[in-house]
Amino acid sequence: MSGATSTGDVGYDELAVLKLLALDGAHRGEVKVSCGDLASRLDASSQTASRRLQALDDANHVTRDLVSDGQWITVTDAGRHALKHEYEDYRRIFEDPGELALAGTVTSGMGEGRHYISLPGYNRQFAEKLGYEPYPGTLNVDLPPDGQRARAGIQALDGVDIDAWEDEDRTYGSATCYACTVVGDGTDFDGAHVIIPDRTHHDDDQLEIIAPVKLRERLGLLDDDEVTIRVEA
Ligand code: CDP
Repeated sequence: MSGATSTGDVGYDELAVLKLLALDGAHRGEVKVSCGDLASRLDASSQTASRRLQALDDANHVTRDLVSDGQWITVTDAGRHALKHEYEDYRRIFEDPGELALAGTVTSGMGEGRHYISLPGYNRQFAEKLGYEPYPGTLNVDLPPDGQRARAGIQALDGVDIDAWEDEDRTYGSATCYACTVVGDGTDFDGAHVIIPDRTHHDDDQLEIIAPVKLRERLGLLDDDEVTIRVEA
């Protein structure tokens, strides 16, 4: 029925549908889809479109709410993940594979980093997957206007997946960590990670860094100081 399997449980035919849905915005919220319309965009029959949607649903890549004149579809976290894998492949094909160095300035956030980094569901994973318990907080680095593109470039690199988890009250989203060196004025620290939530805004102009040490202290950093973040390719 479908093409070669690419990301786990769905094939390329289904991924093509997932991509169209995301282009319509279904990775940000519900969008209304009719099989007929989808079929013509896929240059396929309505049955084929419907079957592929069913396969995406079976693989938990979308959730659907059927109504009389179509269906409301949302791409799930798993669906986004599948698309991101494709995106990373294309990045590798088209981007310079060399080390990524991003210059920015140290800034203060709203004290949220401390809270999130300390949560047990994340902390356990950091210890296991990164090999250290981070200093409770994130060092925020403001990127210049062209930094947003470079930030997207980071996501093309191999990262460490931090899985989503939940407690009684809510779900905490997944993120990806990228090994990096933080270069300050004269000193650097090379055991840090850029952490990027998977549900991030692509126009985000900040990087958040975690490390086993308090980087401000180790590197003598104050707000507005310049740092370079060298991300390992
Ligand atoms: O207030 P803000 O959101 O910037 O801070 P936070 O994430 O709660 O982190 C507390 C403080 O530790 C901030 O000043 C961070 O810049 C700093 N920090 C650091 O120096 N090194 C780290 N590895 C993590 C946070």
